[in-house]
Amino acid sequence: MRATVTAHRDYTVAEIDPRLYGSFVEHLGRAVYTGIYEPDHPTADADGFRQDVIDLVKEIDVPITRYPGGNFVSAYNWEDGIGPKEDRPVRLDLAWHTSESNEVGIHEFADWAEKAGTEMMLAVNLGSRGLDEARNFLEYVNHPGGSYWSDLRKANGRDAPWDVKLWCLGNEMDGPWQIGQKTAAEYGRIAFETAKAMRASDKSIELVVCGSSSPKMATYPEWEATVLDYTYDAVDYVSLHMYFDDHDANPQSYLGKSVLLDDYIDTIAAVIKQTKTKKRSSHDVYISFDEWNVWYHSAEQDKAILQGNEGWPFAPPLLEDIYDFADVLQVGSIINSFIRRADVVKIGCLAQLVNVIAPIMTVKGGPAWRQTIFYPYLYGSQYGRGTSLDIRIDSPTFDTDFAKGIKYLDASAVAADDGALTFFFVNRNLSEPIELDVALGGFDQSKIIMDKVIEGFDLKAVNGPDGEPVAPTDGTNATVTNGRLSATLPPASYRMIRIGA
Ligand code: AHR
Repeated sequence: MRATVTAHRDYTVAEIDPRLYGSFVEHLGRAVYTGIYEPDHPTADADGFRQDVIDLVKEIDVPITRYPGGNFVSAYNWEDGIGPKEDRPVRLDLAWHTSESNEVGIHEFADWAEKAGTEMMLAVNLGSRGLDEARNFLEYVNHPGGSYWSDLRKANGRDAPWDVKLWCLGNEMDGPWQIGQKTAAEYGRIAFETAKAMRASDKSIELVVCGSSSPKMATYPEWEATVLDYTYDAVDYVSLHMYFDDHDANPQSYLGKSVLLDDYIDTIAAVIKQTKTKKRSSHDVYISFDEWNVWYHSAEQDKAILQGNEGWPFAPPLLEDIYDFADVLQVGSIINSFIRRADVVKIGCLAQLVNVIAPIMTVKGGPAWRQTIFYPYLYGSQYGRGTSLDIRIDSPTFDTDFAKGIKYLDASAVAADDGALTFFFVNRNLSEPIELDVALGGFDQSKIIMDKVIEGFDLKAVNGPDGEPVAPTDGTNATVTNGRLSATLPPASYRMIRIGA
């Protein structure tokens, strides 16, 4: 089948915020303990952090990392994680039915973030706690000194403030599973008052208010309308979350699901616009898509722990989805959706980073390894920075029970500051190649400078600690002639083509 893409240098969407390629580390399963932190591991540094994991995080180049949750944050006492480790309490983690040793807290995570070259994005607990704990935490983290909490930070060994810019006002407060779930009006009020207090303490911060935890929620999108009605001028981002699955074992339909993400973004962009107009505000609010990924492979194996049948284990394997080749295509399409809406989606966090629905996995005492989805995330982060182009895609389509006319060809394009033009393609047709023709209006780039393709695998093919077969190879057959890029995209394939002068 044939498909065309039209790009023109004058038609742009927006500058991409590099924080679109962020991630997330929650106190959940083995994300922290035996994930980023394993003092006995052969690669552990003096602070107990696994160097092999830090190396992989650096390879992806993760600009921000959300912490410490997630559902975990909604019953978390941040003070449990400061001071001498031997004095820190063990607590029951009500979100995941496990035990939390608090061996890693804000100091340790900040040290890790510095080593991994990522900025912290912190969440405050608006579930079991509220305004007072939030403002104290902010004072501890960001105030230079001369106050109770900032001096305590100094006494605990950190002189300079961490100066964290991005703060989440709770997590998924619409969800019945959340400790301290609230109605939109209850949450809107507490979020507004907390935002006011936090800004009074530090004017430089950016605040993220909770939107819907999924477009499947009965309260969506009225939730956003109500919450923004209370908070619009006090916040900078509304947080959205979405996880994808192929529970129906229907890969064609699964690969079409990114259109639901497009719809989600369009809808909340419209709610933001409507609220801005209603309030006659000159302030802009954007979307922080601070949890997204595929999440379903581990559902069965996690049931016993999540239902509380295993007691309160410490750092057990949880949400350890092993991703397959189909998930490479899905993650590639999700990133394409974000790039195409770089005008409203400024922050993205792949949930999560290590061991828990993650691109990076570890074996306790053993190696760290790359999941299949490591690669589309890596390429997005490395080469998807610059200006998003407003491309047109003309492609044959398929229908599913949730949408009609889904394009087999999914694509996005980014013009980088160094002059390189990068295209990200996903051929969602499982049996036929796509003969691709891209019109490059106003661009004089004519050389293929990089061509990476992931193709030819069984949709269920996976990587593991003993081998990473699902990996990119160099594409062949792409050419640029007379302002047109041509290539054949194999059936079910992910491809990134970069062209330069
Ligand atoms: O990322 C896993 C969980 O998914 C997070 O803790 C929660 O916010 C979401 O429901």
